[in-house]
Amino acid sequence: MSEPAPTIDVVLSPPEIDLLPKRDLSGCTAVAFDILRATSTMITALANGAEGIWPVRSIEEAWALKKTLPGALLGGERHGERIEGFDLGNSPLEYGENVWGREIISTTTNGTLALRAVEHAGSVLAGSLLNIGALATHLRAEPARELLLVCAGTFREAALEDILAAGMLISLLPGRPLTDGAELALALYQQEKHDLAAALHRARNGRALRAKGREQEVEWCARASVMDLVAEMSREGCVRRAVPA
Ligand code: MLT
Repeated sequence: MSEPAPTIDVVLSPPEIDLLPKRDLSGCTAVAFDILRATSTMITALANGAEGIWPVRSIEEAWALKKTLPGALLGGERHGERIEGFDLGNSPLEYGENVWGREIISTTTNGTLALRAVEHAGSVLAGSLLNIGALATHLRAEPARELLLVCAGTFREAALEDILAAGMLISLLPGRPLTDGAELALALYQQEKHDLAAALHRARNGRALRAKGREQEVEWCARASVMDLVAEMSREGCVRRAVPA
């Protein structure tokens, strides 16, 4: 008798993320999505040769970690802008060959919090549209485990772009039982799949970035399956390229 396929669940918004540290995630793989822009930036940095990204919750935690990792770059944002004294903001376009071989300490409003909220899961991956094909291949090859997709959101609200990415990943892993949150994400993806960029531009964060003349960053993050890598967060809390499953 073959094992029943493991369920896919989706956490849609920050208030739900707040509850995750108390949830037993030992038997599941968690994937955190912050499409605009935190996890898209992490995947871009790794694709450009960064050694690893340390997601932290606060600016204070970033400076404290910098003391133990003096060679690391400080990156991240508050209100979408680079933090005073930091080396980089949170635009994927800032993470090119300049990050090759470097470690990065990153703090953002939602994305780094989402990753840390599931640090106790069996396995923790950072997801984006950029590497969604590689992510699906990795998850298909992984031993069957509950899959928890965490949509980081924007401030305290759900973010359309994160739920869309979760829905796309579900569409690439057919045949698994879905919770209602997962059904919602899949339905949104089915509705928007013909033009992902248009949906990202319509989203609150997409509009905010465009208002700052940063529509290029939205276009960059809207591309699907253009980076063949999987990013896994280690027990120490560093996101690095995963060894193929
Ligand atoms: C976040 O983590 O909140 C976002 O990535 C913020 C941003 O990039 O503007």
